[in-house]
Amino acid sequence: MDMNTDVVYLNGEFMPMDQAKISPLDRGFLFGDGIYEVVPSYAGKLVGFSLHLERMQKGLDTIGIKLFKTLDEWRELFETLINKNGAGNLGVYLHVSRGADVKRFHAYPEGVSPTVFAFTFEIAAATVADKKFVKKFKVTSTEDLRWKRCQIKSTSLLGNVMHFQQGVDAGVNEILLHNTKGHLTEAAACNVFIVKDGKVFTPPLDNQILAGVTRNMLLDILRNYSDLDVQEVVITMEQVKQADEVWLTSSSKELAPVVELNGQPIGDGEVGAVWEFAQRLFSANKFFY
Ligand SMILES: Cc1ncc(COP(=O)(O)O)c(C=O)c1O
Repeated sequence: MDMNTDVVYLNGEFMPMDQAKISPLDRGFLFGDGIYEVVPSYAGKLVGFSLHLERMQKGLDTIGIKLFKTLDEWRELFETLINKNGAGNLGVYLHVSRGADVKRFHAYPEGVSPTVFAFTFEIAAATVADKKFVKKFKVTSTEDLRWKRCQIKSTSLLGNVMHFQQGVDAGVNEILLHNTKGHLTEAAACNVFIVKDGKVFTPPLDNQILAGVTRNMLLDILRNYSDLDVQEVVITMEQVKQADEVWLTSSSKELAPVVELNGQPIGDGEVGAVWEFAQRLFSANKFFY
């Protein structure tokens, strides 16, 4: 295997990936006890930086990890890391675990410093708002079997990983999840929007979904720069099936159009006009967040 010499950040230092070492007693490794973020950057320009870091701080506060850096300090860390890795189209992965203890014990330990790790990875060029060229997503659906704290961007992703793999095994790109009442929650690694009769709908924020930065930016952009009717409401899987359009949103995908659900076409089975309009507005405004 090739050695990975990308530059990463670990606990205050920049170093080649293959020199970054973490204790096997790190609670991130043993318990998945940590919070993470992925922030996209195009030619050195970050998208949604402060929204991502605010969500991270909220997650750390929620699970009692004490780590305080100002937004400026985080920004400097991100910019240094991006510059050291060539400033192409990069995702910046930031991971804060509760740190390395001297034993394995569930309770939060005293006096342990958090482990802070960040690396970059190449991402696709930004999505272009053109029906002819965009990747068309196919999805399946299943009951959401994750935990009841999906608002926390936890590094314990086994529930998401297993759902995503169900999609892969079914030969599709993502998987839509619904609760026991048949209400759409989100996808394994994305939020979900639907369009019906020209109106845009997405599930409301609660403990069943992650408050996606892309979701929040898109809602803000559509409400401020379009006349579209945009609603955060409970959506049944029956409504998803009957939708004219379905979109997935995430930092790396922006708005991804879904054309097939469980082998059946969404709408006319083609990428929709509202997707193109919304993605265009998103592309035009995303660097302001
Ligand atoms: C479960 C889940 N929902 C939604 C999202 C989208 O979040 P964001 O737009 O902040 O990338 C992600 C992103 O990774 C995710 O893992």
